[in-house]
Amino acid sequence: MYKIAVVPGDGIGKEVMEAAINVLDGLDIDFEYEYGLAGDECLEKTGKALPDETLELVKNSDACLFGAAEESAADVIVKLRQSLKLFANLRPVKSYPGTKALFDDLDIMIVRENTEGMYITGEEEYTDEGAIARRIITRKAEERIIRYAFEYAKNNNKTQVTGVHKANVLKKTDGLFKKILYEVAEEYKNQGIETNDFYIDATSMYLITQSNKFQVIVTTNLYGDILSDEGAGLVGGLGLIPSANIGENNALFEPVHGSAPDIAGQGIANPIAMILSAKMMLDYLGEQEAATKVENAILKVLKEGKDVTGDLGGNASTMEMSEAIKNAL
Ligand code: NAI
Ligand code: MG
Repeated sequence: MYKIAVVPGDGIGKEVMEAAINVLDGLDIDFEYEYGLAGDECLEKTGKALPDETLELVKNSDACLFGAAEESAADVIVKLRQSLKLFANLRPVKSYPGTKALFDDLDIMIVRENTEGMYITGEEEYTDEGAIARRIITRKAEERIIRYAFEYAKNNNKTQVTGVHKANVLKKTDGLFKKILYEVAEEYKNQGIETNDFYIDATSMYLITQSNKFQVIVTTNLYGDILSDEGAGLVGGLGLIPSANIGENNALFEPVHGSAPDIAGQGIANPIAMILSAKMMLDYLGEQEAATKVENAILKVLKEGKDVTGDLGGNASTMEMSEAIKNAL
């Protein structure tokens, strides 16, 4: 029995959440769902975009499924990531059939450091000349994310980890990142995992020209943010991309897309990003067999191309596609 915090949020967040829970209901696993409020509607109702009860609910769950918030997204999701110290952001770049993926053989995991680097609120300020931001790299946080990437590789039959940085220019901060990369790499050498590294600018090109160079990419916060959006572009759009935010005690799984006010309420949102986020949750919970089952069901529905939503060229509703995936389990 797993206790899952379910936070659908706003707009299509609610619609794709219903679709994902429907698929999970088709599995032979006992989930206890506890629903929490967050987002713009919640702000209107309760005066808070992320009420303390919701934060507590997520904290005390085995895992959280999160849909999307609207304008209050930063106050909800960024606050959740920070309060729960969700240090690892995992963004798979994987191509599926029947989508607008630019290549049909992409399977890369981007492991992004989620707590420091260029994105620390309070480390940006105006000066007499303009403005300044401090980029913070600590040994503790970088070693933690690098080790996470190697463990991910080891547990998922990957044979290579690539560190991405700009150590030729940022000799101290990225220099330290690179040094730690190869220190940790020593421990995994005998476990069949090779290590290499590229500069961030070259990597942006290689992802397009030689994407088979990569299996697992580990990088700092800003580079990871940019590379993962490039990855989203490579595999054909927001309706397809899941993500995981993982900490020592908590984990939250969410689609990369937002609340999509332009299509909300019509029941036409593509539920795959949310269902694949639930699949990542199953992996995290150690339910690999169920995770594979869900992914194969998605593959089957995409290959058939019949019960798919408008963005994939079909005319199924969100729940019709969810039902087809559930039936294919
Ligand atoms: P968005 O991801 O909501 O939508 C961008 C475009 O992609 C829209 O045309 C939308 O219809 C389409 N789209 C997104 N998901 C789709 C799906 N599952 N199926 C079919 N089409 C899909 O991003 P946008 O428009 O920049 O932001 C809308 C709102 O969402 C804003 O208020 C923003 O703050 C919030 N947002 C929240 C996020 C979160 O909660 N994690 C992340 C990104 C945005
Ligand atoms: Mg981003």
